[in-house]
Amino acid sequence: MIKLKNLLKGHTGIMRIAYIMVIMLSLVTIMAFALHDDHKPVEHEKKIVVVKDSVASVAAFKKVYRVLMSPRCMNCHPSGDIPLQGDDSHLHTMNPQRGVEGKGVFAMKCANCHQPTNTPGKNTPPGNPNWHLPPANMKMVFQGRTPYQLAKQLVNPKQNGNKDIKKLIEHADDGLVLAGWNPGEGRTLPPMSHAEFKKAWITWLTTGAYAPKK
Ligand code: HEC
Ligand code: HEC
Repeated sequence: MIKLKNLLKGHTGIMRIAYIMVIMLSLVTIMAFALHDDHKPVEHEKKIVVVKDSVASVAAFKKVYRVLMSPRCMNCHPSGDIPLQGDDSHLHTMNPQRGVEGKGVFAMKCANCHQPTNTPGKNTPPGNPNWHLPPANMKMVFQGRTPYQLAKQLVNPKQNGNKDIKKLIEHADDGLVLAGWNPGEGRTLPPMSHAEFKKAWITWLTTGAYAPKK
């Protein structure tokens, strides 16, 4: 014991520096972790709280429905296996087919014409690195669905690509959803801003995802 005391006494200065260094290293490590965590979207951390309110939920869905049925969204959520085009949602010229994965078939792959970014000019293909339709085994059809039908479909994991409420909320910031607000020249925007849509989407889901009567 005496020996240990003497040892500490003799090295007080060095020990102090060692202590300070340990503390500083810990701080650097903690900060590195903290900065690293910044990359995670906030939604991962937050617990989603559902407070049922059928009136607020149905009102929010009516806004959501207007966006989903706008040509910028519906053109990729057709009832058939050919995408739609234009503000009048006519069948895509040259009839590119959905294919098993939604990416087209043979020489008519979506990505042949749809580049990673919008092609400049009018009547040119809008671009996105992931441009494709939902797959053949889960078509996620919006076209022709009533508000009641679509609300039920969107929260059914067997029809929405196995999404729970968290994944549905995250989908509001999906690349293809955001593409609707960057549609390329000559195409109208969805009927409200992306922020307004996202707010209505989250409100609808977190108030119980009620479906309108019809
Ligand atoms: C280029 C085609 C394309 C466009 C444009 C597009 N989508 Fe989609 N959408 C898809 C594909 C493919 C999936 C399936 C991917 C997945 O499940 O993650 C999908 C899935 C979805 C889903 C999840 C499915 C469900 O039933 O819950 C929602 C919600 C959705 N889209 C909303 C929108 C909205 C809103 C817009 C317009 C602002 C839009 N989409 C525009 C291709 C598109
Ligand atoms: C041969 C080239 C070509 C192929 C292949 C092709 N497209 Fe297109 N696509 C276009 C062009 C060009 C436009 C723009 C037409 C216009 O605005 O008049 C377009 C427009 C669209 C639009 C309309 C976008 C909007 O906001 O209205 C959708 C949706 C679409 N394509 C989906 C697809 C999908 C999905 C595939 C694959 C299954 C595909 N396309 C394959 C050339 C192609």
